Amino acid sequence: MQAMLLNAFADPGIFELHKVAKPVPGPGQVLIRNIAAGVNPIDWKTAAGGGPAALQGDFPIILGWECAGIIEAVGEQVRAFKANDQVFGFLNFPNPARCLAEYVIADIAHIAPKPDSVSFLQAGAVSLAGITAWQALAMGGHDLQGQRVLVLGGAGGVGHLAIQIAKLQGAEYVATTASTARHKVLGTLGADACYDYHDKQSMLGVDQFDLVIDGIGGDAGLAHLAWLKPDGLWVTLPSVTAEQVISAARQQGKQAQGIRATPNGNQLRALAKTMAAGKIEVLIERSFTLDELNAAMELSRSGHVQGKIVIEFSY
Ligand SMILES: NC(=O)c1ccc[n+]([C@@H]2O[C@H](COP(=O)([O-])OP(=O)(O)OC[C@H]3O[C@@H](n4cnc5c(N)ncnc54)[C@H](OP(=O)(O)O)[C@@H]3O)[C@@H](O)[C@H]2O)c1
Repeated sequence: MQAMLLNAFADPGIFELHKVAKPVPGPGQVLIRNIAAGVNPIDWKTAAGGGPAALQGDFPIILGWECAGIIEAVGEQVRAFKANDQVFGFLNFPNPARCLAEYVIADIAHIAPKPDSVSFLQAGAVSLAGITAWQALAMGGHDLQGQRVLVLGGAGGVGHLAIQIAKLQGAEYVATTASTARHKVLGTLGADACYDYHDKQSMLGVDQFDLVIDGIGGDAGLAHLAWLKPDGLWVTLPSVTAEQVISAARQQGKQAQGIRATPNGNQLRALAKTMAAGKIEVLIERSFTLDELNAAMELSRSGHVQGKIVIEFSY
């Protein structure tokens, strides 16, 4: 099979297309022929030696934690799936998942059937960001009915899904920060208010929020801490700056937490159900072929992607 291999951690990491052996599924696993695989910031951060780099094994390595495709073979003890089933998933994180290759092994606990009405492109791009959004919104431990939610970075992969999931789960008011050019589409996804983060004055006088999903972190996240209610919860996604944000919140007497999203088949099934009902739209900024992965990573690294980037496989 063809795979994009990384031979050394570097910033930017450079991937090369090579032929490697097709993996073999073990007990409780399936072999998926990839049709689409999402590219996420964690991929280029790991390629640069950050995040879960130390867990990826010996070089050369294959990265990528989400995909959609067709089951080609099942391992022992697999009853819930069979060959030719169409599936998608967020696999294994933070251990190696190796989705940026034509074939990938998945534990059955990390995949769900892909609804017929959902394209492979959408399914391949939704699971990591969608489950992250789902788990971040649940961190307060209470339901979102009547809550005011703020999503920092609402145009990003996680952000645009967090807006939609928050509204579906009953949030009364969902506001977000994004460039003005993104406001129209974020409004169609359910955002009640959009603020341009380039205009620091634009949120003056806005009521505070019960829950903030911070997809930006660092100084940009810190600049908005005042918008959290004193008894609210701030969930900061970028792990590199999480401690900085948590301690700044503590100094203001407010509660902030980091998160590490984890694969979850039940949440994936719930996402699949809402997507099948047409209630969640995955914005796709651009798709690339597997051999164009370095360009896809470069685009993700720019930090100005609307929705998701996807690798589309052709055979
Ligand atoms: N801890 C976890 O488990 C976990 C899981 C998933 C993701 N993450 C992290 O969460 C972060 C977000 O992930 P993602 O996939 O959503 O990233 P992404 O898709 O790359 O986010 C890009 C978006 O960020 C917006 N943006 C950039 N600077 C901004 C600012 N100052 N204010 C508001 N929006 C801004 C951009 O909008 P414009 O184009 O308008 O500038 C763009 O739409 C990343 O750091 C990622 O590594 C963590």
